[in-house]
Amino acid sequence: MNQFSPIKVDLGPSSYNIFFNRDWAGLIKSLTTKKPMIITEENVAGYHLDHWKRIIPEAEIIIVPPGEQSKSYPVLERIHTELIEKGLSRDTVIFALGGGMIGDLAGFAAASYMRGVDLIQIPTTLLAMVDASIGGKTGINHKLGKNLIGAFWQPKAVLIDFRHLNTLPEREWLCGIGEMLKYGIIRDKELFANLSERISISGKPQDWIIIEMVKRCAEIKAEIVSQDERESGVRALLNFGHTIGHGLEAAGDYNLFRHGEAVIAGIAGAAYLSRKKCGLPQDDYTQIMRTIGRIPLPPIPREITASVIFEIMKHDKKIKSGKFRFILTEAIGAAHIDDSIEDSEIFNSIDFTLDFINNNADIIE
Ligand code: GLY
Repeated sequence: MNQFSPIKVDLGPSSYNIFFNRDWAGLIKSLTTKKPMIITEENVAGYHLDHWKRIIPEAEIIIVPPGEQSKSYPVLERIHTELIEKGLSRDTVIFALGGGMIGDLAGFAAASYMRGVDLIQIPTTLLAMVDASIGGKTGINHKLGKNLIGAFWQPKAVLIDFRHLNTLPEREWLCGIGEMLKYGIIRDKELFANLSERISISGKPQDWIIIEMVKRCAEIKAEIVSQDERESGVRALLNFGHTIGHGLEAAGDYNLFRHGEAVIAGIAGAAYLSRKKCGLPQDDYTQIMRTIGRIPLPPIPREITASVIFEIMKHDKKIKSGKFRFILTEAIGAAHIDDSIEDSEIFNSIDFTLDFINNNADIIE
């Protein structure tokens, strides 16, 4: 495959391409003639908005505050109000310029405005490039839980410009690496090994090997979404590390851990359960733990205990699926769903995860 050839998300009439480093102005003209609206957040606007204004000079612009707090009813309402006040009709295309938060928020604004307008995702973080911008999950948070209000709304295209990574802070970079490791563990042993080798230097935006790995992750995501758009089967594998991860994120009120960091910690819990429940070989287990053990995570405050996280997870389970659903790996490169794990084992895995965060060096072997 040519370095920059597109990847197709194959969803019949709703199919779309993920494009990499292109002449964006020419491409956008060929994709849409609708009225453009860029939705972004303050930090991303500071770095990248001028660039995109030159590419789409006729675009209207909405800028929201950064951070997970913007995935809320008030900010969504503000976006709807601006869209109405600017006189935008159904003949609109929303460009979501930013990380996962903007992809979700602007994506849901597109899904809900006038019963749905076109959406184009322009992810600016590593995490959004490999995961959040692909597959059509959009939404906002409710005070009773994360991502509870939303819609599947597939974009018309995903535009990945690797130059955006030049301004990515180290912490964000590592969050993206966490999600990339997930793809390696569930689907691609070689990807895992390559990533594992490079984590200590954490990659550079113009490092073509990293770019190949980003493309590989996007390809895996596209394949999985093409098979199971609405998460009734294989798409659930993408939640590897997320069951405990979501509990941790919520316990830290969404500002202690970034999503990717919580997933990295959750991978420790999932590896622990995989060893106990499906015979993950010792060598694979050690490789996973050594790799994630090199990624710095914020320390856990004393009040966030395993019981606190377990209660949050039980609540999450009640509103979402009624069952604890873990993704386990039987060997690096393969994964399956297990929804029959006993509460006591889940509790132990949370305890293990907290130990991993606080003193990972001691528990890796
Ligand atoms: N981030 C997981 C998914 O898109 O299904």
